[in-house]
Amino acid sequence: MSLKKVVLTTLSCALLAAPLAQADRAEDAIEYRQGIFKAYGWHFGAMGAMVRGKVDYDAEQFAHHAKSFLAVAPLAAEGFIEGSDFGETSAKDELWENLDDVNQRFVTMTEAAEKLVAVSGGELAGAKAAFGAVAKSCKGCHDNYREKR
Ligand code: HEC
Repeated sequence: MSLKKVVLTTLSCALLAAPLAQADRAEDAIEYRQGIFKAYGWHFGAMGAMVRGKVDYDAEQFAHHAKSFLAVAPLAAEGFIEGSDFGETSAKDELWENLDDVNQRFVTMTEAAEKLVAVSGGELAGAKAAFGAVAKSCKGCHDNYREKR
């Protein structure tokens, strides 16, 4: 191969790779946020089972899940990057037109999670109300911005 050909081939590969890398990044972002949401579901589900009386209330376990949820709560917002609005996602079109509102909802949810951590470890009655406030944040955002499956 001539040097010119090598250079041209390398160049065209680089040009081709750029949009591909972007598509990969969008896919990664979708998987990232869905993974974080799965972590929400894991910790939230464990607390919800205790709140609903499906599992015996264990203050220590409840506090563990509240703290772990708070640790991951602020992370999902980062996954809604530009260009990640199509593909294997359940995010509604409306979400992309209202990113400020979406981000504010994550902040509100994280604040509710802080309150949940503050009351967790004690009686279930106290944790219930704080848990309900977080649940309201999940539902509010899903009702507006997540496709029903
Ligand atoms: C500010 C908006 C918002 C908040 C708050 C929110 N979600 Fe979601 N959630 C979404 C969106 C949007 C999707 C779809 C993401 C996608 O498919 O790209 C989603 C998806 C999910 C999924 C499915 C993940 C998967 O497997 O693909 C679960 C589980 C979930 N959310 C749980 C929760 C729980 C539990 C809470 C509250 C503790 C919560 N979410 C709070 C917007 C939100």
